[in-house]
Formats: sequence, structure tokens, C-alpha cells
Amino acid sequence: MCRPEHFEVVSTINPWMDPSVPVSRALAILQWENLVDTYERLGHRVDLVQPAAGLPDMVFAANAGVAIDNKMMAANMWSSERRPEEDHYRKHFDTAGFDEVLIPEHINEGEGDFLFTGEMLLAGTGFRTDPRSHREARDFFDVEVVTLQLVDPRWYHLDTALFAITPEHVVWYPGAFDRDSVAELRRRFPDGIEATEQDALAFGLNSTADRRQVVMPESAPELAERIADAGFEVHTVDLSELLKAGGSVKCCTLELSTRQ
Ligand code: ARG
Repeated sequence: MCRPEHFEVVSTINPWMDPSVPVSRALAILQWENLVDTYERLGHRVDLVQPAAGLPDMVFAANAGVAIDNKMMAANMWSSERRPEEDHYRKHFDTAGFDEVLIPEHINEGEGDFLFTGEMLLAGTGFRTDPRSHREARDFFDVEVVTLQLVDPRWYHLDTALFAITPEHVVWYPGAFDRDSVAELRRRFPDGIEATEQDALAFGLNSTADRRQVVMPESAPELAERIADAGFEVHTVDLSELLKAGGSVKCCTLELSTRQ
């Protein structure tokens, strides 16, 4: 994770960003610290990457790469605004103890568009990540990769429209995907939870989970209730300031996943 010390909204690289809306950096930092505290309270270890001046989106660590087991595929950012983040994150990865770090050829925005369920790698494309990077990921990690097509710019990254609690319990919003991807998700995840547009607009799908405990933005209470009813432990946090840049819980978190 990366503390939002230089957070601001100065460009419009996704439809949620409006530079004319004021942002409180102090509040963003408090909200982000509460997310870190929540993870630590739930038993997770949080590693921090040093924030860099002039990189307002660096707080969105999920986009810096995708990790499975002890291998890291670094990001190759789509937006010129965020490309300078790559060096900072790559330097961190070099000393973080991974067995292998891949500097990829094709554009990919890390866990923004890649989600490892524990069994397969779900891979989004349509707005940011180049589908050719899906093949790169398959060859590097040697896992099954399922390409999913995003169709609505409000859900510009896979992690704004889908997350997994367990390898079977995928939570997702059908309106973000094309017809074939919807059919594929329904076929592969019959026990999945389909969220509403309202849940998705509130960034309820931008959540993290460790098979039991789910950390979600508090702005999606109906989805939180359904997830709790399905037997999972739900913890909510307020990340309203970061939402002004089009990010929430998952965007702030690069998860180090493992195979079953
Ligand atoms: N402003 C950032 C961007 O548009 C937000 C990134 C959110 N991250 C994510 N994993 N969805 O790139």
C-alpha cells in the first residue's frame, strides 16, 4: 500500500475524476490509515511503498502489478500521468523478496484488471489493460487466464466490477461486462453473487477478501448485507475522498495471492 501523501485530483483519466471538485488530502490520509488499521486488525501484514511527489494516483497500489505466489508481474501503465509510478514500484518489488519480477511488454494495470481467484486468473480488458498482456500473464504464471470484456467506462478496471471472496464466491456486476463475459461468469461461478447497479456505482465491488473476511467501502450497505447473509464476515471503511479519483478499498491494495 502507498500512503496518499501526494493525493489530489488533477486529471480526468476516468469518469469519476473531476478536478473542479475539492479534495481533502488530510481526510484521504485519515481514511486510508483506517484501511491499513483494518487490515492489521484482521491479521494481515501491510508493506508500504514510499509515496513520491507529483504522483497523485500512487495511492492506488493495486495498479502497480499482479502477484501470484512469489512471482510479480509489474504493471505497464496505460496513462502517461501514471507511468512515472512504475519505477518507484518496480524498485520496491526488486527488494521485496519475490522469486521473479516480470517487466512486461504489453500494457497492463496490475490488479486493477487481473484478479487471481486462487484457481484462475480473471483478466479484464476494454479500457486499460491490453488483451495481449493476458497471454503474457498466462505464460509467466502458468495459470488459466479468463479474458473478460468491460463495456462501460464507469467500470474501467475489472476491480471496479468484480471481486472474489473464495474461488467460488465471485461478486460481480453484470452491467459492466459484454454478453459473452456475463455468460462465462455465470457458467464458471454458479455460486457467485450478482450485484446491482447501485452497488456498483457505490464502488461496492472494489473490495478485498481472504476467503472469510471481506473489507468493503461502507457506501454499499445492501451488498454488504447480502455478503454477510451468505456467511462472510464484513468490515466496512469510508474512503469517500479516494472515490473522487475513482478508487476505493481494492484500488488501494495490491494483494499478494497464493494458490490453493
Ligand atoms: N485515478 C486512478 C486511475 O484512473 C484510479 C485507479 C483506481 N485503481 C483501480 N485499481 N481501479 O488510474
